Amino acid sequence: MPRHVAIIMDGNGRWAAARGLPRVEGHRRGVEALRRTVRAAGDLGISVLTIFSFSSENWSRPPSEIHDLMGLLRRFVRNDLADLHSRNVRVRIIGEREDLDRDICLLLQEAEDLTRNNDGLVLVIAFNYGARQEIARAARRVAIEVAQGRLSAEAVTPELLARHFHASDIPDPDVIIRTSGEQRLSNFLLWQAAYSELVFVPINWPDFDRTALEGALAEYRRRERRFGGLIAQTAS
Ligand code: FPP
Repeated sequence: MPRHVAIIMDGNGRWAAARGLPRVEGHRRGVEALRRTVRAAGDLGISVLTIFSFSSENWSRPPSEIHDLMGLLRRFVRNDLADLHSRNVRVRIIGEREDLDRDICLLLQEAEDLTRNNDGLVLVIAFNYGARQEIARAARRVAIEVAQGRLSAEAVTPELLARHFHASDIPDPDVIIRTSGEQRLSNFLLWQAAYSELVFVPINWPDFDRTALEGALAEYRRRERRFGGLIAQTAS
């Protein structure tokens, strides 16, 4: 079983369009798929589940859709936080908080604070997250330390830079699953994905469930992970 599973929940709009429904209905059903997936991930013994809920680039969507997605996040935290807490889930948030409405920042903070001491599944919600932004932010912080003379430029290693990421204590994802058949990372965990297995599933996110998760994990287990080295049999 992978320790860390990350998911790009794609295809809500297409799911809705195929049924003649407004896009928001796809997102609503997407929240239900998210609930099912969190439960299944906990049952399967996965340690960390990271989900891509709102990307830095999603601000370019029509204002009404941004409003709907913000509303769904508010409702998700308000309705589901107690249940997540009772199931020992620890909520973590990655992404830029500065541009978010104050009430959303407070809700995200509340979710992290309430569940801080839980030691079950870690649910990492990527909200207003972009990997390039995360890397640039880390670089800015390191640059300040170098400029202030607290760090030498030679000391800047991949490990040092990664310590400035949003959740630097969390191991890289073993597998990144993307639904809807699209095959790209779309600015999600670019650095952390260096050795992640990528699994693309052809169903839209609102149809994702425990069976689909188990199918994607079975595909992951068929992969041979070498991390740039050789497999055991050919190494000698
Ligand atoms: C991709 O579908 C999905 C998103 C941009 C948002 C994902 C959000 C949810 C599953 C619901 C919100 C969950 C929380 C916790 C707030 P798309 O709209 O890009 O679909 P399309 O590519 O078919 O148009």
